[in-house]
Amino acid sequence: MADLDGVPWPPAPIRTPRLLLRRPAASDRDGVIELLCSEAATRYLGGPQSRADLSLTLPQGPTGRPGVFTIEANRQFVGTVSFDRRDASRPGHVRASGLEIEVSYAVLPDELGNGYGAEALAGALGWVAQVMPREPVVLCTQTANRASMRVAEQAGFLEVARFEEFDAEQWFGVRQPEGATA
Ligand SMILES: CC(C)(COP(=O)(O)OP(=O)(O)OC[C@H]1O[C@@H](n2cnc3c(N)ncnc32)[C@H](O)[C@@H]1OP(=O)(O)O)[C@@H](O)C(=O)NCCC(=O)NCCS
Repeated sequence: MADLDGVPWPPAPIRTPRLLLRRPAASDRDGVIELLCSEAATRYLGGPQSRADLSLTLPQGPTGRPGVFTIEANRQFVGTVSFDRRDASRPGHVRASGLEIEVSYAVLPDELGNGYGAEALAGALGWVAQVMPREPVVLCTQTANRASMRVAEQAGFLEVARFEEFDAEQWFGVRQPEGATA
């Protein structure tokens, strides 16, 4: 999959009213393991991984891949928001060539219910608007994932399509850049 080639990285940390979005650090490792082995955080994303396996296999430090932000609240890791390019072979696109900027997000189970997802997404979309001002951002989430659907709506994503993938109904939406006509 193509990554975010050409995007300036690492970014300056992004502050929102309660959160800091920053590039990942080695100290995030325990939090990332907690996310990936959490039933709540992975229910709509393929299911939890084994903590023991993750402890052995997850790299000790961040990969440095552009587009991955750690979400921090009260100086603690609480989740991630990340951008990638949507593989052209998958369903759901807003342009013929595919490879749109796609966002995803996850918050630790103990931190749910605080609205951190919407706040982090708003901050991260501000970053996209600065560094890729002409790019639409797309988002795909299961329709059963009500919290994620609500976060997408709060961030201004509009429905483009619904389709079946991974044995579930998926909602595919887009947030066009400021000033776009379509
Ligand atoms: C999506 C996610 C980040 C949202 O976490 P959060 O910011 O703590 O969300 P909140 O609990 O504050 O809820 C956000 C909104 O959804 C609503 N919501 C939450 N659960 C809901 C449910 N089961 N049904 C309907 N609405 C729900 C909340 O009421 C809130 O709306 P409001 O602001 O109008 O009150 C979190 O659920 C998560 O990490 N999920 C696992 C990872 C995932 O599935 N990511 C999506 C991949 S794109």
